[in-house]
Amino acid sequence: MGSKILIVGACGQIGTELTFALREKYGNDEVVASDIKEGNQELMESGPFEVVDATDYQQLERIIEQHQIGEVYLMAAMLSATAERFPMKGWDLNMNSLFHVLNLARDGKISKVFWPSSIAVFGPTSPKNNTPQVTVMEPSTVYGISKLAGERWCEYYFRKYNVDVRSVRYPGLISYKTLPGGGTTDYAVEIYHEALKSGAYTSFLQEGTTLPMMYMSDAIRGTIALMDAPAKNIQVRSSYNLAALSFAPEEIAAAITKYLPDFKINYEPDYRQEIADSWPASIDDRQAREDWGWEHQFDLDRMSKSMLENLREMLSLSR
Ligand code: SER
Repeated sequence: MGSKILIVGACGQIGTELTFALREKYGNDEVVASDIKEGNQELMESGPFEVVDATDYQQLERIIEQHQIGEVYLMAAMLSATAERFPMKGWDLNMNSLFHVLNLARDGKISKVFWPSSIAVFGPTSPKNNTPQVTVMEPSTVYGISKLAGERWCEYYFRKYNVDVRSVRYPGLISYKTLPGGGTTDYAVEIYHEALKSGAYTSFLQEGTTLPMMYMSDAIRGTIALMDAPAKNIQVRSSYNLAALSFAPEEIAAAITKYLPDFKINYEPDYRQEIADSWPASIDDRQAREDWGWEHQFDLDRMSKSMLENLREMLSLSR
């Protein structure tokens, strides 16, 4: 077994920034990026890149052997809104890619796995505020069902086969480098783009829809901290609750108005409202803070300032 890192789904919203961060930490050649399609030019040029279908065991096995991989970050997934439209495809991608990676770890071909879960594992019957680490979990979306099943399998592989798999339940993630795709929390990224481009945004979630959210730099820092923590500290082998901030559309709009006073928000809720309504408003992440020192840094104001500054620069460069 090698010692390099493979990121599966490296061209996605999280994968892109995770690849850059891990290449910075371990060196460009130590981190192999892969995705079903090509993505960010800088990402593909700054180190090894492979086109890989995460649902194909043979392809994964070949890349792992060829590049002497020891650690896999499995970031390929179909998110909540898209999976409602393509339930079987979502289930197939989200579950089979996980089984392939867990089985590669069980069979001694890799030694460590990161797999992302989500706040979508909770459902309408879970406590809505400060949702505990361990509580009622009856997700009502295909995505949430796949993530909850995945969590149970992660814990099972740890218990039965001693697989060192680690996971967090990400809240909605906000970033400027790569757009999210097919998620219910995507509005909180689109709103910054539209604020700069047209000065107005029509939200597909209605006023008062409070959801847990996090700035990408916090999410990346947390992910790497979890993977770096000594195994004995990782008490949770399903997935850790992870929180930073919680806000509703009108609150993010107000934060933007501080920097762009003429910004306007409208509301036209669609099918994604029902998904959002089934999720928690805020998360209790005490266990992550206690076990491996999780701490977020960005609040809504600091995040908004950073998003607007970085997007403004990117938009002017692309003109
Ligand atoms: N951000 C994701 C989604 O909206 C939740 O994990 O689907």
